[in-house]
Amino acid sequence: MNPKNIYFDSGSDCCIKNFIHLFYKNKHNIISTKPSFPMYKVYSEFYNMNIQYIGYKKNLDMDLNKLVKKINNKTRLVILANPNSPLGDFKDKKEINSFCKILNKKKIPLLLDEAYIDFAPHSCLSLLKNNPNLFILRTFSKSWGAAGIRLGYIVGNQEVIKKLYNIQLTYPISNITLKFGNYLLKNSHINKSYSSNTILARNNLCEILKKNNYDVLNSHTNSIHMHEKNNNNSRTTRLLLDAKFAFKYGSKLTGTMVKIPGDNRTNWIRLSVGPNLDKNKSLLKIIKKNKDK
Ligand SMILES: Cc1ncc(COP(=O)(O)O)c(C=O)c1O
Repeated sequence: MNPKNIYFDSGSDCCIKNFIHLFYKNKHNIISTKPSFPMYKVYSEFYNMNIQYIGYKKNLDMDLNKLVKKINNKTRLVILANPNSPLGDFKDKKEINSFCKILNKKKIPLLLDEAYIDFAPHSCLSLLKNNPNLFILRTFSKSWGAAGIRLGYIVGNQEVIKKLYNIQLTYPISNITLKFGNYLLKNSHINKSYSSNTILARNNLCEILKKNNYDVLNSHTNSIHMHEKNNNNSRTTRLLLDAKFAFKYGSKLTGTMVKIPGDNRTNWIRLSVGPNLDKNKSLLKIIKKNKDK
């Protein structure tokens, strides 16, 4: 990869902000999916642009044709996370490739956010060669476990990458971050084993949950959604909290909702998965109690 095709900045969050900055036009539109990473909207509105969302179908499929139909002369940019977070759905190379070609005919760039790509089947990096409107966003915050160093990057055509460097802060990335990033790249086996063990644990945990009367939404990221098949999740939520698990959950008390499209329940549990979580004794004890009920 030619370094001139890569733009580094302080986390992929900052890359998103500067990419939007580059393509912004007052009161024009950016199209993305709902749900998706909330900062797409925050930065769109920061630059006085509207974010337009495409929702999921009931079967949790994201119909890209629906997105194409939304494009008009006010559209400046499309942002897609692949896999998307928090639902974890994934579009393969073939689908992204044809989508890119359609966008290219309309002169629309696609920012493809691959924050969680190491937990998914494959990247779309190889599509860059034949798609000048494709920009791939990556981060060291997820499978590399280094959110604190604040390092992300965009890969894409040199002309645009050069323009991004022109609008960047003077000293965006510290030496410490660069050293840490270099260390990670030289030791990429750590990332590889972490990611593959996370995928193993995630898939296995989903099977265990299904066998113990949970509805489960598996994903291509490092988190899954689970819900007691016959009850309202309050028992599992309480047991997980008592056992000091960190997780996201829908709570009537705080008004937080954790939903998945096409399902009325508002208190799903979203659990982050790492290597061997499927063997965690206290988690397995909690899960098995759901079957005994
Ligand atoms: C899909 C997605 N993209 C980008 C980010 C931003 O990550 P960072 O700024 O830490 O690189 C996140 C963080 O949660 C995310 O979920």
